[in-house]
Amino acid sequence: MSTATATRRTAVETHPSPEAAAVAAADAIESDLRAGRLRTLGVATGSSPSPLYRELARRGLDFSGVSLFALDEYLGLPHGHPQSYREVVAREVAGPLGIPLGAVHLPDGGDPAAYDRLIAAHGGIDRQILGMGRNGHIGFNEPGSPVDSRTRIVDLAASTREANARFFETPDDVPVQSVTQGIGTILDARRIVVLVSGREKAAAVAAAVNGPRTASMPASVLRDHADVTWYLDDDAAALLSTRDVPEVAS
Ligand code: GLP
Repeated sequence: MSTATATRRTAVETHPSPEAAAVAAADAIESDLRAGRLRTLGVATGSSPSPLYRELARRGLDFSGVSLFALDEYLGLPHGHPQSYREVVAREVAGPLGIPLGAVHLPDGGDPAAYDRLIAAHGGIDRQILGMGRNGHIGFNEPGSPVDSRTRIVDLAASTREANARFFETPDDVPVQSVTQGIGTILDARRIVVLVSGREKAAAVAAAVNGPRTASMPASVLRDHADVTWYLDDDAAALLSTRDVPEVAS
């Protein structure tokens, strides 16, 4: 299933498993890489993109000329904490893809706006990989985030801290703030790949893809972008319908 207009292209692919969705997304990224169109890759953390990173690593492609830009970073974790996104991106993306740590960039809570300037100085993001939270967040842009927001410090929603508690020893260890690319920053990327899997995300997927475009469902704003592809597993796609538009509070 896919929809398109003259200026916007949103494609929605469904696959039998997260791994099959990752193979399809990896094909798109490999094609960019081989065509010389991938100098800067935006990377999300979380469990959704993990199969994609594993698949890209398995292909043994040459990513040595690619710079990585993380979507977000927790604030308040000690340097070197295994759940800091600097460590996660190094361990799950840069290392497996053979990208030197000097080419890995993350936003800095001390000067968030510098991140947008750094991205611009690298010519913008060629391909942004996104996951999506159960409440529709992208990066750490929680519901209500301005659609033109830039990289900034944000408070995490209680539901996001709960969802991410699985990565920490206790729920209280989950940071309360992060620094995240803004929705406007994300929309500046040339192409966007969104990976979502699991039944617990199905309502948010349906709201983002079929529901109203609203700041209360941050991922719904992706339809403003010229080139977005959603790679879903069947569970995440379970509530999608072009007729059955879910209610989204605005
Ligand atoms: C995290 C990250 C997001 C990610 C989302 C979903 O908190 N900040 O970038 O897309 O939440 O995570 P997961 O894929 O683990 O469900």
